[in-house]
Amino acid sequence: MTPQEELRALLQETAEHLRYYQELGITNFGEIFIPQDLPAVTAEATRPMTQAVSEPLPIPPKEIETMPETKNTVPDSFSLFGETAPLAPEQQVSDDSLEKIRADLGDCQRCKLWKTRTNIVFGEGNAKADLMFIGEAPGADEDASGRPFVGRAGQLLTKMIEAINFKREDVYIANILKSRPPDNRNPEADETKSCIPFLFRQIAVIRPKLIVTLGNPATQGLLETKVGITKLRGEFQDYPRFPGIKVLPTFHPAYLLRSPDKKREAWEDLKKVRAFLQGGA
Ligand code: URA
Repeated sequence: MTPQEELRALLQETAEHLRYYQELGITNFGEIFIPQDLPAVTAEATRPMTQAVSEPLPIPPKEIETMPETKNTVPDSFSLFGETAPLAPEQQVSDDSLEKIRADLGDCQRCKLWKTRTNIVFGEGNAKADLMFIGEAPGADEDASGRPFVGRAGQLLTKMIEAINFKREDVYIANILKSRPPDNRNPEADETKSCIPFLFRQIAVIRPKLIVTLGNPATQGLLETKVGITKLRGEFQDYPRFPGIKVLPTFHPAYLLRSPDKKREAWEDLKKVRAFLQGGA
């Protein structure tokens, strides 16, 4: 890289970083203020200085298959749902589709949560997405609307997605559970056990390159591990259940709303997502 290219890359990264913080509503860093009217602090703003800064980072074509080095393969894993064969029987529905999965789910009463939910939250987005986000369970807004991540945490998730130059509709968003637990308590083992086979089928149909798990219950539920998010976050995980699909755990947006000091680490994770999907993690 020439010094000019390095400077250009640095400027672009700084602009994106500032835009991310601005979108999260953070405009005051003590000495430093980001003006509220900062739509120009983007790649666009760096253009006059750098001439050659290109268009926003493109979403890569599906063919790019670069895998970053994997740090671990889920240490201390245990089997929550029986043997973790690469493809469990419930995943082996021939000619499966999201429509079939939704139809099979029906007006699900496989666990106790049907009694208190308003709507099933199946998941939504691009059925051919390279990138999937998985949270833990619907909250009140999601239960009311039947759509994942539409409340405050969802709005932050949308901003996080946009901060890495994707649109919400480019990705697929789902949860470990499709029904809201009362008072937003954590998913219980029997609920996860009945619900997660449908998520596995969704993953098998979509076959994303990367799944970002949001927070502890989502990470532990999907990876079938007891290891906590603080150990796993920011590290690409192999996913034995779906060889070839990587998992990157990061903080849940609801946690980021409560602990804004963690946004810096979440941004580091998001940059890894972007680099991975561009083929250069
Ligand atoms: N939190 C989640 O984990 N999922 C949602 O859909 C909304 C909030």
